This record gives sequence, C-alpha cells and structure tokens, in this order.
Amino acid sequence: MKNITVIGAGHVGLVTSVCFADLGNRVVCLDINEQKIAGLNEGVMPIYELGLDELVARNTAAGRLSFTTSYPEGLREAEFVFIAVGTPEGVDGDADLRYVRMAARSIAEAMDHPVTIVNKSTVPVGTGDWVADIIGDYRTDDVEFAVVSNPEFLREGSAIADFMHPDRVVLGSLNRDAAESVAQLYLPLRTTIMITDLRTAEMIKYASNAFLATRISFINEIATICEALGADVKEVAMGMGYDKRIGHAFLDAGVGYGGSCFPKDVKALAYMGQIKGRHPQLLHAVMEINADQRRAVVRKLESALGSLRGQTIGLLGLAFKPNTDDMREAPSIHIARMLQAAGAHVRGYDPVAMQVAARVVPELELANDAYSLAEGCDALVVVTEWNEFKNLDLARIRDLMSRPVIIDGRSIYDPPAMEEMGFYYRAIGRGFDH
Ligand code: UDX
Repeated sequence: MKNITVIGAGHVGLVTSVCFADLGNRVVCLDINEQKIAGLNEGVMPIYELGLDELVARNTAAGRLSFTTSYPEGLREAEFVFIAVGTPEGVDGDADLRYVRMAARSIAEAMDHPVTIVNKSTVPVGTGDWVADIIGDYRTDDVEFAVVSNPEFLREGSAIADFMHPDRVVLGSLNRDAAESVAQLYLPLRTTIMITDLRTAEMIKYASNAFLATRISFINEIATICEALGADVKEVAMGMGYDKRIGHAFLDAGVGYGGSCFPKDVKALAYMGQIKGRHPQLLHAVMEINADQRRAVVRKLESALGSLRGQTIGLLGLAFKPNTDDMREAPSIHIARMLQAAGAHVRGYDPVAMQVAARVVPELELANDAYSLAEGCDALVVVTEWNEFKNLDLARIRDLMSRPVIIDGRSIYDPPAMEEMGFYYRAIGRGFDH
C-alpha cells in the first residue's frame, strides 16, 4: 500500500486515481475546481466513463480514495504525486502548459517531505526537465524530489480497462531509483514495464499517437482511391490486416480522427520538429487528409442533393467516438459548421453527448432521438458509430425523411441492403463514387 496523490480530476486523473485505489493504495485526488470536487464527494461524476462511478463508490467507501481542493492536505502523506492536468492546444499547435506549471508550483510550495513526482500530462518533449526546474525554484526547504515521466495510453470509453490491462507501462527518468519505485506501483498489472530517459518516454507517447493517426489517415487516403477505382475499403482493410505485420487495428476509414489526443498530439509533434528546423511532411499530410475527410462528407451531400442551401441535414452522433460524451475536436463540429456555411439547416442527436453539444455547438438544433432527428430531413449523416444506430428501424427512418439520403461516415450499414430499401446511400471508400 502506497500513498498516492493525483493532481487533476479529469479523464486521466480520475481513472488513474480510482485504479490505483482499487489496486489497494491510499489515493487522494486533488483538483482546484471546487465544483468538481464537491460533486465527486457526492458521487457525481464530472465525465462519462464506463464503470467509473462504481469504482469511485467502492473505493471511497473502503477509505482508499478521497478528494480535495487543498494542496497541503493532498500532499500531507504523499509518497508519489501524479500530475494529470490538461494540456490544451496553445497557439500554432504549441501545447498550453499553464496548468502543468500551476500544478508544479503548487506541489513545490506544499511539499514538506521527499516525494516522487510523476508526470502523466502529455507535455512537449523536454518538459520533464522543466517541471523539475520549477519545483527546484519554488520549493520552500531543501526537500528531495525526483521527476518521472509516465505517459498515459488510455482510450476514452475503455480507460479503466486500458489502465488495468495495459500493453506496456513507460517510465522515463534521469533517476533510475525513482523510476524503479514507480514501476513497483504497476507490478500488480503484470505487464511489460519499460524504463528509459525522460525525453524518450515523452517521445514514445507522441510517436505512438502520431503512428495511430497515420494509420487512420493512410486508410482514409486508400478509401478515396477506392472510390475512384471501384474497390471496397472495408474489405481492403480486412485483407491487409490479416498480414501479421500490419494487423487490423486503427484501419477503419471514415470521417477522420477527433478527440482530445490525436489532433493535438500530431500537431504538437509537427510543431516541435518544425521549430527545430525539421520538415515533418508526413505529419502534415496526416493532418490534411484528416481535414479532407470532413470535406468529403459535404461533397457527398452536394452530389446527392445539389445545393445545400435550405436543405435539412441530420447528424447521427455528435461525440468524437462512441461510449463517450466528449466532443473535443469531434468531426461533427467541423461538419456542422461547413454545412451551416453552405446554407443548410443542421440538426443533431447523440445518445450521451447532448448536454455537451448544447454548450459546444449552441447553433445546432438538437433532436430527442434518431427518429425525431430523421423527420423531415433531406439527408442523414452517420458521424459516430454508436451501437444504437446499427439497429435502427431503417424503414421507419426512410418513411420519416423528406428524401431517403444517408451518407454513412462510419460504414455501419450494408450498401446493397440500403440500396434495396430505397435509400440513396454512400459510405466512405466503398465502391465507385465520383
Ligand atoms: C487515443 C489513444 O488511443 C490513446 O492511447 C491516447 O492515450 C489518447 O488518444 P482516444 O482519443 O480516447 O484515445 O480514442 P481512440 O479510440 O484512439 O480514437 C481516436 C479517434 O480516431 C476517434 O475519433 C476515432 O473515431 C478515430 N478512429 C479510430 C478512426 O477514425 N479509425 C480507426 O480505425 C480508429
């Protein structure tokens, strides 16, 4: 049993807190947002994540997990302090590090005994040294500390399972003993633990996310070529994936990647290379292809409907992917804005992201379910592949629509079956589409 303090009650911080508590440690989760902490103390989750509420309830009841807004209280017993605060996108694709800076400074000021500081926030390569500098500058006494970088690879929607069953744990530090002590925390997970230097650990995170984003843009480019040549990208990806060197993961063509990580991390990695005089042309292509995928939806709608002015378009799904209410960099936002700019009336429906959508895209008219969304629509666009959309009563949807047009940005339906039902149906990269 170790005493762990986690700074940040966002996605990464909360999941890290409950999982370490569930592994038997005593965890204090600290956030400066009083409303968030008050909510958590009453069992109200600030984010939607499968299984989180149950784990919070179980571990708080067992006395292993508590929440606070106070640094002195949060750090009183801490042996390990994890920094898991947000690093939003700054100007030019640079990362905005103000929250990491605030956390480092507050830790330094409250720390009165030796601690190991573990950075989980995605920060530009080299920031681990910078956190150490800030703490060195602001600590009140000569308290000993070490900084370890521990990048996270959690996917939203399956973050708890990803934490408990990781493919690997990466630790980076200039202090081997500190890294070894953090490794001990992860031993119960029985996974590969790689220890390297600070900068390399930080780079592993960026390179992993950029590689996955590259796979997505690669298959999206293949999809565009499939449309020109009459091939089916879904089967192409399937056939490619049987090659063990390639594998099937992250080869789903569609409206492109979104979320809190891929867009920001690819951009930040390109920026880091660029300011050092490198020319990261593959990363730029990955970003361009991703933006094109959103435009492809608008083009397909124009092929089906002609001018979009005055047409009513319904977006099925608003979250950046299923099983989350997160809309950061969601393709739905970009598509909605382009359609509105083209003069269309745009509506949307999402099984869980409605509250977030009302805040993020207030100009979007929201429907209560998929059927009321479809009513009177000239076209529907599948933007997020929620399971409930896969089992819709499509005959009812068709009869409710003004025109039976579906553009499927996630390939959840079968093209011949849709045509047979009388839909004008186009997916991404599935046969001729000029
Ligand atoms: C990602 C990484 O997977 C995780 O390791 C990292 O720490 C944070 O970023 P997340 O953003 O939660 O996780 O979602 P993920 O499931 O990876 O999907 C990212 C985006 O790519 C989504 O918009 C998804 O729809 C899209 N995607 C994914 C595709 O378009 N095609 C695919 O084949 C896979």
